[in-house]
Amino acid sequence: MTALMEQGEICRPIGFVPTMGYLHQGHLSLVHRARQECRTVVVSIFVNPTQFGVNEDFDSYPRDLSRDLEMLEPMGVDIVFCPPVREMYPDGYQTFVDVEQLAQILCGARRPGHFRGVTTVVLKLVNIVKADLMYMGEKDFQQCVVLETMLRELNQACRIIRCPIVREADGLAMSSRNVYLSPEDRQKASCLHQAIQLAQRLCRDGKDKADEVIPVLTELILSRGGQIDYIAIVDHVSLQPVDVVDTRSRLLLAVRFGKTRLIDNGAIA
Ligand code: PAJ
Repeated sequence: MTALMEQGEICRPIGFVPTMGYLHQGHLSLVHRARQECRTVVVSIFVNPTQFGVNEDFDSYPRDLSRDLEMLEPMGVDIVFCPPVREMYPDGYQTFVDVEQLAQILCGARRPGHFRGVTTVVLKLVNIVKADLMYMGEKDFQQCVVLETMLRELNQACRIIRCPIVREADGLAMSSRNVYLSPEDRQKASCLHQAIQLAQRLCRDGKDKADEVIPVLTELILSRGGQIDYIAIVDHVSLQPVDVVDTRSRLLLAVRFGKTRLIDNGAIA
């Protein structure tokens, strides 16, 4: 706590990295960036029940607090905040934050209520931590857009600093959920990144129509045994589908391997 106080003053800016734990290098890249840019760094570890659907993996979500704390130890974090569920959501809790349209498309359409849980917990955490800057990964691209909209529209001073996706050697985006993958599915899952690279090549070769690109990517992913939730090429701000790919477009993918749902994304023009 001493780092927080200097002659009774909080040392700003306060950089905040919200996580659900089971940390990996993707999370640590956010902490590292926050440490470089902020006088105080706060990391939260909280598996947020309200962002999981009834048939989702809240109970089985991987948790290992002592390993997480060990990983954070050399990072120079000032505070690790790990609230119990009942402290964030006491009995009778009834206040939620909803971003309407943006939270209902793409992952929001597949996971009803998911972003309502995310926006609610993140606003609570930002208020508790009094964060100035919140460091978030572009791995969860729609989450960044939804949360930026929420902070802006609710007049919050906190700003999001978006950080690049950290990948494994074969291109798979790091995720706490990758531990669910069987060895065979783990191998197959590298096709998500290959699909992004293929889309980039197609666009470079002048195939820049979404309805030309998407079927090619669909074929690649199906041939590797992925079950497609969605493949979309959208405007990076509105998240609405585009016809022709340009520098404002983003390819977003959600694919299941076995029972594990993975997401990935990239700029392709
Ligand atoms: P979690 O999945 O633990 O992710 C925490 C942060 O790490 C998010 O900003 C996410 O985008 C980032 N992240 C995850 N994998 C990454 C990767 N491979 N490269 C770069 N950044 C990565 O996202 C959540 O938790 C929750 O929804 C949360 C915001 C904490 C609210 O409960």
